[in-house]
Amino acid sequence: MRTPVLTALSSQAPQDSITVCGWVRTKRDSKTFSFLEINDGSCLRGIQAVVDAGVPGSEDLPKITTGASVQVTGRLVASQGQGQAWEIQVTALTLTGPADESYPLQKKGHSMEFLRQIGHLRARSNLFGAVFRTRSRMAFAVHTFFQERGFVYVHTPIITASDCEGAGEMFRVTTLPQGSAAKPEEDFFGKPSFLTVSGQLEAETLACALGSVYTFGPAFRAENSNTSRHAAEFWMIEPEMAFCDLQGDMDMAEEQMRYLARVMLAQCAEDLAFFTKMVDKGLTDRLKLVAEQPFKRVSYREAVDILLSSGQEFEFPVVHGHNLQSEHERYLTEKHFQCPVIVFNYPKEIKPFYMRQNDDGETVAAMDVLVPGIGEIIGGSQREERPERLRAAMEHHQLREEDYWWYADLRKYGTVPHAGYGMGFERLLMFVTGVSNIRDVIPFARTPGTADF
Ligand code: 4AD
Ligand code: MG
Repeated sequence: MRTPVLTALSSQAPQDSITVCGWVRTKRDSKTFSFLEINDGSCLRGIQAVVDAGVPGSEDLPKITTGASVQVTGRLVASQGQGQAWEIQVTALTLTGPADESYPLQKKGHSMEFLRQIGHLRARSNLFGAVFRTRSRMAFAVHTFFQERGFVYVHTPIITASDCEGAGEMFRVTTLPQGSAAKPEEDFFGKPSFLTVSGQLEAETLACALGSVYTFGPAFRAENSNTSRHAAEFWMIEPEMAFCDLQGDMDMAEEQMRYLARVMLAQCAEDLAFFTKMVDKGLTDRLKLVAEQPFKRVSYREAVDILLSSGQEFEFPVVHGHNLQSEHERYLTEKHFQCPVIVFNYPKEIKPFYMRQNDDGETVAAMDVLVPGIGEIIGGSQREERPERLRAAMEHHQLREEDYWWYADLRKYGTVPHAGYGMGFERLLMFVTGVSNIRDVIPFARTPGTADF
């Protein structure tokens, strides 16, 4: 059995018989009939069901409360009441599963903290229903964007022995008992293994065979920082393009952001209107800006100069050669430029080994896309395709050649200029929904100290 979903109702004509299944949001009783507001999760809108006393199943009405699941069959008619176009004049009612007064999602508003504690039920609220529908739409749009442009979707391993970003924030994967004195060679994979922080290195090998590829999968980072923008488990989209330089990389990142903003505006209108009303009043305007206006592009050096001469007090000092902190990134995009910004050509000392060295000997062809409200949403670079330069960079970063021989091999056989980037999928969702904490755009977030549900 599968009944039509409420999304399909928007462009309906009256119907003699329709069946809707869902959860009761509210019930109002009068002497001779009851109103049930039913939501089936397919869209923000619910439907009002009018149940006359005496209709088959109406004897269960006293047991039907907020949170109960029901099935109603009846006539779909234009509603006399305000706030809805259609209602169902019920001819048969079934109480599928009752709920009692301990149901935690009663009509009143709840704090985000409280809703996180009921992660198994919060998807039934308006906000989280909208967030998770948006998550689905955006995931599909990511695939459409790349598929329409001839990219090949590749699956890179989740368990890996290499540390792509070199930041040492990896979760160990082992079958050795805790406290074991066994050597890594005796472990399951014969060497220390970890959950991947990025599929990039493997994606590069596939790009150097298939041309343009992208990954879209989970990544794991054991950063013990409890921020609103970091999760221990998140999803990343990583395109990688052969015969592409930094310019092409920035162009693709900008095009992807623009495309996804347009999808949000055009295909998620109802949920977007809700986010704009309830979460972030400036959301729709900001998405329109992203969809229409070119992003600003500045070099790291220019960006630091802007910050130094801003007169702004920052918690972390602005220093040439240091990483930009989130507050710096947000100043650039929210205050100075007031639009998305791409910062490129970062000092090589603060970036991973694989980034292509620029002729100045000091910077690498890296780029970060910064957006208002979030800061960094995308990080990428052109990759070092010259064998000697790569070897020198690996030595400098103290990487062992026997661990990365296959990566170096790509430069030995038919090397090509290539570039790519990683977009944090949850950061994208924060950007298109206005939700300010990463915990609230993941159905079941994994952050330091939390792996519930
Ligand atoms: O800037 P990052 O670390 O870049 C890479 O991993 C490259 N290998 C990507 C590439 O060039 N193929 O991460 C990329 C993006 C960040 O910009 C951010 O949006 C997201 O991944 N990200 C996180 N999102 C949520 N929680 C975390 N802990 C994240 N760490 C990175
Ligand atoms: Mg980064």
